[in-house]
Amino acid sequence: MTKILLAVLFLCAGGTASASVDQEKFIDGLIARMTPQEKLGQLQQLDGEADGHARSEHYGLARGGLLGSTLNVRGSTETNKLQQAAMDSRLHIPLLFGFDVIHGYRTIFPVPLGGAASFDPGLVERAAAAAAAESRACGVRWTFSPMVDIARDPRWGRIVEGAGEDPYLGSVMAAAQVRGYQGGDYSRGSRIAACAKHWAAYGAAEAGRDYNTAEVSERTLRDVYFPPFKTAAEAGAATFMSAFADLNGTPGTANSWLIRDVLKGEWGFDGFVVSDYTSVAELINHGIAADGAGAARAAIAAGVDMEMVSRLYAGNAAALLAKGLIAPAQLDEAVRRVLRIKLRAGLFEDPFTPAGGEKDVLLKPEFLDLSRLLAERSFVLLKNERGTLPVGRTVKRILVAGALAGDKAAALGPWSGDGSASDAVSILEGLSARAAEKGIMIDYVRGAGPKADLSDDISAAASAAAGADLVIAVVGEDPSYMNGEAASRADLSLSGRQQELLRALAASGKPLAVLLMSGRPLDMNWADANAGALLQLWFPGTMAGKAAGAAVFGDVSPGGKLPVSWPRSVGQIPVYYNHKNGGRPVDPANPENRYASRYIDLPNSPLYPFGYGLTYSSFTLTGLELSRSTVTVSGKIEASALLSNKGAVRADEVVQLYVRQLSAGVTRPVRELKAFKRVTLEPGASQRVSLEVPLPALGFHGTDMKYRVEPGEFTLWLGTSSEGGLEGRFYAIP
Ligand code: BGC
Repeated sequence: MTKILLAVLFLCAGGTASASVDQEKFIDGLIARMTPQEKLGQLQQLDGEADGHARSEHYGLARGGLLGSTLNVRGSTETNKLQQAAMDSRLHIPLLFGFDVIHGYRTIFPVPLGGAASFDPGLVERAAAAAAAESRACGVRWTFSPMVDIARDPRWGRIVEGAGEDPYLGSVMAAAQVRGYQGGDYSRGSRIAACAKHWAAYGAAEAGRDYNTAEVSERTLRDVYFPPFKTAAEAGAATFMSAFADLNGTPGTANSWLIRDVLKGEWGFDGFVVSDYTSVAELINHGIAADGAGAARAAIAAGVDMEMVSRLYAGNAAALLAKGLIAPAQLDEAVRRVLRIKLRAGLFEDPFTPAGGEKDVLLKPEFLDLSRLLAERSFVLLKNERGTLPVGRTVKRILVAGALAGDKAAALGPWSGDGSASDAVSILEGLSARAAEKGIMIDYVRGAGPKADLSDDISAAASAAAGADLVIAVVGEDPSYMNGEAASRADLSLSGRQQELLRALAASGKPLAVLLMSGRPLDMNWADANAGALLQLWFPGTMAGKAAGAAVFGDVSPGGKLPVSWPRSVGQIPVYYNHKNGGRPVDPANPENRYASRYIDLPNSPLYPFGYGLTYSSFTLTGLELSRSTVTVSGKIEASALLSNKGAVRADEVVQLYVRQLSAGVTRPVRELKAFKRVTLEPGASQRVSLEVPLPALGFHGTDMKYRVEPGEFTLWLGTSSEGGLEGRFYAIP
């Protein structure tokens, strides 16, 4: 069966890709003809081989109409082959090929936490669009991205996959990614369907331990954890993925309040929900179901439409239906949602992928450029004293140390799609190339890496440092096992002998710049106190070295900002900027008062706050003006100030607008980000930067869990991080 026959079938049913009434009629027609087993087939997703091949059993299942989707099967040849089997099935329903395209398919972009640090949603959107184009050329029509879980705990390895701790930044980045993947219509051109995950509060895992239980109040869910999901749904995200974890006593995959009431009910989401990997079967471990049939029943009842990898729907649902333990309408609704997304993805009209089209799309020069640009914009300069960076004119010889400097695979980060280390430019290659152009000598000594190794040689690094004018140490994490899923850490200090390496290099007395490649804040107290410069690179992707070279040699100035608060100590976690004030906050006039909410052995503040990041220039922000001092709760307020680049180089500053409601029916955070703008200024230039906030965005969920904007007094700050800033006041009136 072919494309033409199928299109005829579709058009006979009155279908067009854009007419949803007709689409629903087409789906009605199909559902009416489906056997229970075929319906369950649509709800089954199975895993391919890690290398992208389908498994042999997939062909029989697809031909029998017993498979709805796969994950990891990819490549035009492989997907077309399996798709043909599905198109040969009785009802010719195409498969939906999914894959974890988290920060790039073949061209790897900075990890999502780095993307968020760019505070540049436009660029993040373009990166997602490029990832979609590469995916689609390889037959992948659905990505399990964006991950929009708020994460306040850097012990959690998956913090790297999201946009960090803030609901506003998280929402902006969620929408940008959904738009990038899907465009206005993901049936067309080079777009694919997105999946907002993991619904919900997976990032709130107790103790930062992956898959662990979360206990989060409904208000905190609605005010903090839900907003990026809601924005993703509003941006049209085709699908959602249910979380593994137990939330307030009900695992995400059995949580009908989350899925049926909030997502599909309140928010009117009409796409489908896929379980996480075997999370339906894990309902037995959770103690929510006694056996496979119970697990299938609980997940279907909760509204999980498609089962990833475990096969409990296929194995049990027919019997459950026969016994009346699930309603036929529930099953049909799940099938309808899956078919709806297949229709919207254009699969019925165009199920196949141009054979061999990969070669024209993968690693296109413009994608590589985009990757470099986003990497450059994601870097966050945490410290820079005595002009340690960029490399100065007097520097003739640089020592680069640290195993990560030469590690191309690490530069790609933890979810590197079909990325290949051999495509990547290592930090060392990038620095060496740029140094050569400038006639600067580079020596490299491995020294130490994230894992202690017999080849560690701290003293070789220390003696090489003695001959250098500048020492650049590249340290951090190995994302192959330290970041992403199942990579929680209890100790956030530099692993292996990397801290020892830093101390030995510093002992040389030579200026020391530390480049950090990590997927989370690490314990950087020593570097903060002792290094000349500290530059957070995250995991920059394929063009890591090019971007690092540009930043280190000052072709560009770092201008990213932290999307997470950076703790001084694991003992402070969770530490986040938008916390509540409490009844006994620390009084700045009397900070030693013991009976305040504080530690006796550490300040409450993080080492670096959310929104913080330096540049090679210096900016001033002056002359705050508010458009009004009273605003109706349905109105908007505009705040502006003059941003001036007082330094000697072109650089970017991110102007950030925060608010606090001083008194309300429920306690409010001490600050909340509500708008931001990243601005580029030439040296000596000034610009009045204006940010607007609609008052309806300043609300919260009251004691009745209804969203409201309460009249009252607000403090507003315009600044360049979540600390300090120009302060103004306004009143919201009814
Ligand atoms: C992860 C998901 C991912 C899925 C498919 C799971 O283990 O939690 O984020 O999309 O696997 O690879």
